[in-house]
Amino acid sequence: MRITGTGHASMRIDTAAGSILCDPWVNPAYFASWFPFPDNSLLDWETLGDVDYLYVSHLHRDHFDAEHLKRFISKKATVLLPEYPTSQLEDELRDLGFTSFLKTKSDEVHELDGGLKVMIQALISPTDGPIGDSSLWVEYDGIRVLNQNDARPTDLTRFNELGHVHAHMLQFSGAIWYPMVYELPEAAKTAFGKQKRDRQFDRTWRYIDDLKADHVFPIAGPPCFLDDTLWKFNDIFGDEGNIFPDQSVFMAEYAKVGGTNGVVLLPGSVSELSASSIETSHPTDVDEFFANKQAHLEEMRERKAPVIAAEKASWRHPEIDVLGALKKRIEPLLEESIYMAQGVGGPVRFDLTDSFGPDGEVVESIVVDFPGKQVRPYADEKVRYRFKTGRALIEHLIHIDEGDWVNSLFLSCRFSAARIGQYNEYVYAFFKCLSEERLQYAEGWYDEHEKAVEAEDTVLGDWTVQRRCPHLKADLSRFGMVDGNVLTCQLHGWKFDLPSGRCLTSVGHKIRAEKTEN
Ligand code: FES
Repeated sequence: MRITGTGHASMRIDTAAGSILCDPWVNPAYFASWFPFPDNSLLDWETLGDVDYLYVSHLHRDHFDAEHLKRFISKKATVLLPEYPTSQLEDELRDLGFTSFLKTKSDEVHELDGGLKVMIQALISPTDGPIGDSSLWVEYDGIRVLNQNDARPTDLTRFNELGHVHAHMLQFSGAIWYPMVYELPEAAKTAFGKQKRDRQFDRTWRYIDDLKADHVFPIAGPPCFLDDTLWKFNDIFGDEGNIFPDQSVFMAEYAKVGGTNGVVLLPGSVSELSASSIETSHPTDVDEFFANKQAHLEEMRERKAPVIAAEKASWRHPEIDVLGALKKRIEPLLEESIYMAQGVGGPVRFDLTDSFGPDGEVVESIVVDFPGKQVRPYADEKVRYRFKTGRALIEHLIHIDEGDWVNSLFLSCRFSAARIGQYNEYVYAFFKCLSEERLQYAEGWYDEHEKAVEAEDTVLGDWTVQRRCPHLKADLSRFGMVDGNVLTCQLHGWKFDLPSGRCLTSVGHKIRAEKTEN
């Protein structure tokens, strides 16, 4: 089996029974904020795109690059489609010209021609990617690989059941706006960022340890930020709170915990994988490449500046009545929302500036009033969350009829945020569900899960707690760690105060816990 690195989370898997291209991403994503690093735009995409199968793990724009798919990927390719609750991924791929689809069943092995086997595990909670994230397992001639991608399954049991895995590709770096965009003192940001960075690595070690594959490939990030206002997010300034460590940092950290089987793929690197060996060749020396990271980034910044400028030129639509358009789009959804509206529990304010981000003068302030089920001008009130961003970005979201603001505005990091109290997952869940189909799905999901009674218990130290994490059901007998009266679920790092059951990380999500009698 041959694995060719094609950048970020993308790879091409070649076997004698056919080839699979995964998540090809080349064009900038999220308001031209994220670029693949190392740069993959100079690869021979005509050849790479001439494949038998295409796998797009989910709709996040650093995995689903419409322009690139349209231009370079063979429309003869059969799409290996994850089993998602909405048809959006399939619809968007059909719009791009793909016609052949294998609709997989989650967690079921599918046998393709020539003895190639695939299985896609689909994660479908409202917090999994854009309502759906997935991993691809492939087997050919006794060689198995798991492209876990940036999916966060509670465990890897299903893959382990299918036999020893030879290569495990997974995310290790950050892919979120926290804590950088929060209006916090720098020292606090660094402390939160450091915690997050450590947690990301801990989670990665846990997955690696779960699967015990022969070889581990760090993939799916980090992106690079080439616009001047976002340049500070690149991990080149020795900031221990930076959440975007790169593959070379992964290798160093992995070595500290005893990892010796890491394989870094640059775009164009090729690994020949057999049951007993791996041979990898690179287009350039990997260590040297990362040692010169800053110079590579600076060169990219210069080369991509016209791309960013052209994108920016398309965002402003001053003729749009932002308040009126948001009222029209959001108010009917507020009316239908029960769980998410209740979960947000207060007004959310958008301060809109005259720039392309949080800097500049505020020209309009709008409130999405969840309890009042209204979108209206800000009325000098206390709000639960406040976002500050460019009016032009909201104009553009309205102009392109965007129904997922996480997969556009929030991931762009072109905003700042402040909040009262804890992180509130419902705020972000709601703003990724600005369509009838998604809203109904998410509300139904919360309905089912809120009502689900978690009957099983597990004992952790002096405490008997419900076995499944109130966040996304991780098995706490494996992911739970108790320190004094606080339980941390290591899958996403959420914390719970055991005597009260209160979730310390987010609103709601109470845990059932009792001190074990000795
Ligand atoms: S499942 Fe997310 S913190 Fe436990």
